[in-house]
Amino acid sequence: MCGIIGYIGSENAVPIIVDGLKKLEYRGYDSAGLAVYSGGGFEVVKRKGRLQALESEIEQNPIKGFAGIGHTRWATHGEPSNENSHPHLGHQNKIAVVHNGIIENYKQLREKLEAGGIKFTSETDSEVIAQLTEYYYKGDIMETVIKVVNRLEGSYALGIMCIDEPDALIAIKKDNPLIIGVSDHGQFIASDVPAVLKHTNQVHYPNDKEIAVLRKGSVQFFNLDNEPIQKTPETITWSFDSAEKGGYPHFMLKEIMEQPKVLQDTFQSAANTGDNKPIIDSLDFTRFNKLVITACGSAYNAGVVAKNVFERLCGITVEVELASEFRYKDAVVDDKTLVILVSQSGETADTIAAMREAKSKGAATLSVVNVIGSTIAKESDFCVYTAAGPEIAVATTKAFSAQLVLLYILAIRFAVQLKKLSPEAERELLAQIKALPEKANDILKQVDLIQQYASTCVGCKSIFFIGRNIDYAIALEGSLKLKEISYIHSEAYAGGELKHGTISLIEENTLVVAISNCKRLYDKIMSNVEQVISRGAKVLLIGNCPAAGANETDKKLSVIELPETNELFSPSLSVVALQLFAYFVAANKGLDIDKPRNLAKSVTVE
Ligand code: F6R
Repeated sequence: MCGIIGYIGSENAVPIIVDGLKKLEYRGYDSAGLAVYSGGGFEVVKRKGRLQALESEIEQNPIKGFAGIGHTRWATHGEPSNENSHPHLGHQNKIAVVHNGIIENYKQLREKLEAGGIKFTSETDSEVIAQLTEYYYKGDIMETVIKVVNRLEGSYALGIMCIDEPDALIAIKKDNPLIIGVSDHGQFIASDVPAVLKHTNQVHYPNDKEIAVLRKGSVQFFNLDNEPIQKTPETITWSFDSAEKGGYPHFMLKEIMEQPKVLQDTFQSAANTGDNKPIIDSLDFTRFNKLVITACGSAYNAGVVAKNVFERLCGITVEVELASEFRYKDAVVDDKTLVILVSQSGETADTIAAMREAKSKGAATLSVVNVIGSTIAKESDFCVYTAAGPEIAVATTKAFSAQLVLLYILAIRFAVQLKKLSPEAERELLAQIKALPEKANDILKQVDLIQQYASTCVGCKSIFFIGRNIDYAIALEGSLKLKEISYIHSEAYAGGELKHGTISLIEENTLVVAISNCKRLYDKIMSNVEQVISRGAKVLLIGNCPAAGANETDKKLSVIELPETNELFSPSLSVVALQLFAYFVAANKGLDIDKPRNLAKSVTVE
């Protein structure tokens, strides 16, 4: 939540910061602001609302500077307002700070500073950092920053500037993402790589509590004892184009359309000789008697799908836990447990906490992560990367699909180790996964049909998603996708569960989306379909065994037919249709699809 960016170099920092904020707006969009050093002092502009408001203000009253910091906010402490926007300044306007994270002891620090006569101008926890920095500053910014971070409790990624040392930009992190970009014309700090990709692919990933000092032509790192640390930048392989809309109206649609390539790339990087292979292969699955998958939101839904696959292929019981629950439940895990963490960002606070909890109990941890160098990727014992590239839309699509593919492959590898799969069966399953990109492409060709159907659903007040077994698992994701971007209430149910209560919600023309890829359960789900139709519902049937027996002349029943595949991998196809459906319902409502209200992409708060 919240995005920070900073630049120091030979170019005007203002357009660079605004452009970087555009790439970070997915992290929060309640307000935005920036501060640049312009000779005599800081020029600060802050605006409540979308970044556009800040841009308009700057267009009308241009400012310039060769060093600056910017912020896009997802409000936690204090309402979205100009005052609560970052950057925050100290009481004498000597220090400017942008902050992503939460300062847990801000009240105590604030009370102390206020008792000493310092006046605060916002309700945020972040302002205390600027005030404290200025309070401690006696002419040496490094010494001051060390003193400040030793007082802070909580999480932070910080960009700090001091008016007396305008040739330096300071950055430090703890439990929140921060990257340092290095280019020919200057140096950058940012919450995420896409914010700097236009300028450089050379990026440092500082560890917690390492201080970065950026100057026009250099970046240096220090520990909290002020001793220098040597670091080598990593080369980012993501292209600049991958973080652009490329002619699509929304990132979400672009990212849905990219899925055939993402499935292919992820399959290749995991199943062939990519960096991942030695890591997975060195994991001896036979030493575990328990498998737990923990994650949040869509990543949790990927875990529910994976539970079905692991249980079927490996013959072991798998628990799937919401990370926010796992972290507080005194989980029964030990050194014979493998805990799999699934996360696009690798920075989700609850998932990080679940990982640390599992590790503290001796469990082995394996992460499935998209963002290279993220906290979960670094701290887990084993890590496999999804090859989704940068995902910008808040609602995940391609990263979810990549997670599924990696989880299938892990399940197959573990099943082989457990001698549950013959080499032929393994080959056959891998061939089925390899064929998914082309089949996903076939579904994308049905875009007009899905769009047309979605246009009839704009007025729906509530939409139910049903399925059985693995179809139920993917129904959870279909429902989440729809509600988060279209603001239509929706729920997913196991088909057999309807009659135990939910069916009382079905009224004339309630929409039920039924998913049907399990041939052995086809009759069962169809009988659920009939039950809801006879109570007035209209049904959209999505699946690869929907047509036989379905009375397509029934006006209440519409069908989106999916290509055949192994039941276990069918969620990868269902989800493409479900994502398109959710997207077009939201698009027909004219909503801000890439930035749904109240949400942010990287949830680094509890
Ligand atoms: C929904 C969505 C979220 C994330 C969740 C976990 O479309 O994107 O539910 O899946 O916040 O995020 P990561 O995967 O970054 O841990």
